[in-house]
Amino acid sequence: MGKDTLTVTDNRTGQEFEIPIEEGAVRAMEFRQMKVDADDFGLLAYDPAFTNTAACRSAITDIDGEKGILRYRGYPIEQLAEKSNYLETAYLLVHGELPTRSQYVEWEHDITIHTFIHENTKKFMEGFQHDAHPMGMLVSTVAALSTFYPEAKEIFDEDVRLLEIKRLIAKMPTLAAFAFRHSLGKPYVYPDNDLSFSGNLLNMLYKMSEAKYNPDPVLERALDVLFILHADHEQNCSANAMRAVGSSHVDPYSAIAAAVAALYGPLHGGANEAVLRMLAEIDTVENIPGFIKRVKEGEGLLFGFGHRIYKNFDPRASIIKELAHQVFEVTGRNPLLDIALELERIALEDEYFIQRKLYPNVDFYSGIIYQSMGFPVTMFPVLFAIPRTAGWVSQWQEMLEDSAQKIARPRQLYVGAAKRDFVAVSKRG
Ligand code: CMC
Repeated sequence: MGKDTLTVTDNRTGQEFEIPIEEGAVRAMEFRQMKVDADDFGLLAYDPAFTNTAACRSAITDIDGEKGILRYRGYPIEQLAEKSNYLETAYLLVHGELPTRSQYVEWEHDITIHTFIHENTKKFMEGFQHDAHPMGMLVSTVAALSTFYPEAKEIFDEDVRLLEIKRLIAKMPTLAAFAFRHSLGKPYVYPDNDLSFSGNLLNMLYKMSEAKYNPDPVLERALDVLFILHADHEQNCSANAMRAVGSSHVDPYSAIAAAVAALYGPLHGGANEAVLRMLAEIDTVENIPGFIKRVKEGEGLLFGFGHRIYKNFDPRASIIKELAHQVFEVTGRNPLLDIALELERIALEDEYFIQRKLYPNVDFYSGIIYQSMGFPVTMFPVLFAIPRTAGWVSQWQEMLEDSAQKIARPRQLYVGAAKRDFVAVSKRG
């Protein structure tokens, strides 16, 4: 039986080092002892985009990208999607265990009573252009919430922290819905606390003059399942932003604003918006081969395909594909589905995509469902941000409680000019 160590010979000096291997990893700091002389800073690990660097130990979400496995706190995503609801899943992510019945009742109550936002929030939302992207509005308004809750900066007070976590989970749908209504020029609809988390969101998005909004149960459940699937995804770009910004010990609203901004990009949560624009541009099934050819020639991406971690299949995509059929029974079939299905079929048989292990990801079908439910494409990343809030706050809390964590501060390999003396402007050029 071998030892759990790594022996490294520094060929510059001939020195040998024995480095411990713990949990399948070596500590990057071990390399700092490898120096050519006493003045040397020590060896650094170079890893742009953190492709092989674990920045934390985490007990929240477990992904096996080769096997297509996704588990929250050990529970398979397929079981949660079938048997849980978003609020229960959010409790699981935040607290680490599924709630008892009474814990769930209390959690649901606590989230529900925090759905309202300060009236002043409405006023500054009104200042946005009529066609402002709702994701831009969300980034700004969630950051602004920190000014309404100055006590939120007491991040090491566990009671305050839990209160802010509940507020964030509760208020994101309200901010999102207000941004949506603003873009349509429609009056804001206040939360209806008799409804479920997703039912209330549909109410705030779509209610008009009726006294009471009754969400369609199929769409309400479909939205809830989509929220479960999007609730966390370990150290993705936005979770990393949440942890990095949160590591400066700023309040959680400011850190969440950074996470929402990270999610906005088309390589992350903005991908579902990009998928819909792409499908609309392809327009007909006949145009697919030409589109695929252009992607292979490097003229663009097949949005909704590929993933840094999943190299076989994305388990969320399989659940969403199934969900799409249930939604279409209520909304009618989205004609873009035919283009998506044919695109997927052709891509999965194509050597370019097979060799690079590119498969449909969570965003490939979610946009088609959202569009069928009446959302404009600009709302898609917002619908990602609402449930991902539970993941962000869980990652943030875990980071704060981890004694190994400090302010996030990567190193660099400086490749710029060596020391040189300032030149007066008259002598330049
Ligand atoms: N279409 C065409 N080619 C692609 C795609 C794609 N969607 N994704 C990757 N490739 C190619 C890429 O050009 C590269 O080719 P080559 O080896 O010839 O240079 C190879 O596949 C490896 O790609 P990579 O960019 O090194 O892979 P990555 O792990 O850095 O990127 C990704 C992962 C998700 C950013 C990327 O696959 C991508 O841009 N996909 C499209 C955007 C998208 O759907 N994003 C949603 C991700 S899932 C939800 C979320 O996390 O928010």
